[in-house]
Amino acid sequence: MKSSFRDTRLIQDTREAGELLARGMLVAFPTETVYGLGGAIDQPGAVEGIFAAKGRPADNPLIVHLVERSVLEKVVLAIPPMAQELMDQFWPGPLTLVFKKQAWVSSLVTAGLDSVAVRSPANPIAREILLECKCPVAAPSANRSGRPSATTWQSVLEDLNGKVDAIFQGESCAVGIESTVVDCTGSQPELLRAGAVTLEQLRSIRPDTVVLKRTHAAVNSPGLRHKHYQPQAKVILVNDLSRIEPKKDAGMICMTPHASAAGFGLYVQVSEMERYASQLYEFFREADRKQLAEIYCEGVPTSGLGAALMDRLSRAAES
Ligand code: TXA
Ligand code: MG
Repeated sequence: MKSSFRDTRLIQDTREAGELLARGMLVAFPTETVYGLGGAIDQPGAVEGIFAAKGRPADNPLIVHLVERSVLEKVVLAIPPMAQELMDQFWPGPLTLVFKKQAWVSSLVTAGLDSVAVRSPANPIAREILLECKCPVAAPSANRSGRPSATTWQSVLEDLNGKVDAIFQGESCAVGIESTVVDCTGSQPELLRAGAVTLEQLRSIRPDTVVLKRTHAAVNSPGLRHKHYQPQAKVILVNDLSRIEPKKDAGMICMTPHASAAGFGLYVQVSEMERYASQLYEFFREADRKQLAEIYCEGVPTSGLGAALMDRLSRAAES
């Protein structure tokens, strides 16, 4: 049987990363949201390799990353006015838009859908790599399927060593949770996944933006029905921290300080919502490294970035 082992190299050169991608190799690289596991969509075997490396179910479509308008036009059938307006305001950045796809874009990328999700990341390393490789790059989050997304290169290595060709040693991700996903294939923008570009911001440009009902999510955004963002530890969402007794085999992440912080096996207090988002997945992973049994996460109000944070927290807390 053919071995799927790959000799994983750590790299720091964007040109090398771009060249490897252009040759069909798998390269993990930083974006402002989370690390992505990249493969060029026009190279045979690269997209299959992504699914194999992650252990990702084939019915979960990938986001295509690009920088140049000319590459976007190669991938999508048309750019509707709603998409153009959102791109003008939020690209480059943590916003993914869903378009009708060009016929040549492999159904492996889109999990059989006739639409394709596209994002133009703001992270300068990601942009240099994409410019260097010149081709559209599919990149799901660079974690083993079912684990929390990786926001540091060390966490990518922890999950994907021996499964990808290279990992770019960039900085930790500024945003820390995955991009906002908006479907632009209908008559009005439809928010499929909350992220750092908030509903309020979307509506300031397109007041007609609607939110996908979670009951319909499985049909319209297949990725949302899979288990996501879950550490091994049991995640418990709490609103009143004072009721929680400290335990050495428990962790806590919160904005309100807890009176017995030192009593927890892992304790992370963040000063603001942005920090909560950027620290969350590394907190989950650290809890697993310490083999904690449970972790307490303080709930936040669901306005602004809080909507995305509560989406991830409540998914992680699902049993
Ligand atoms: O921030 C991010 O978006 C990161 C970085 C690496 O860019 N990527 C990421 O990819 O989070 P992934 O594969 O973990 O999540 C992709 C999401 C899934 O929820 C999937 O269902 C949705 O995008 N998606 C992809 N193509 C779609 C399509 N054609 N229609 C609807 N949803 C789609
Ligand atoms: Mg993911």
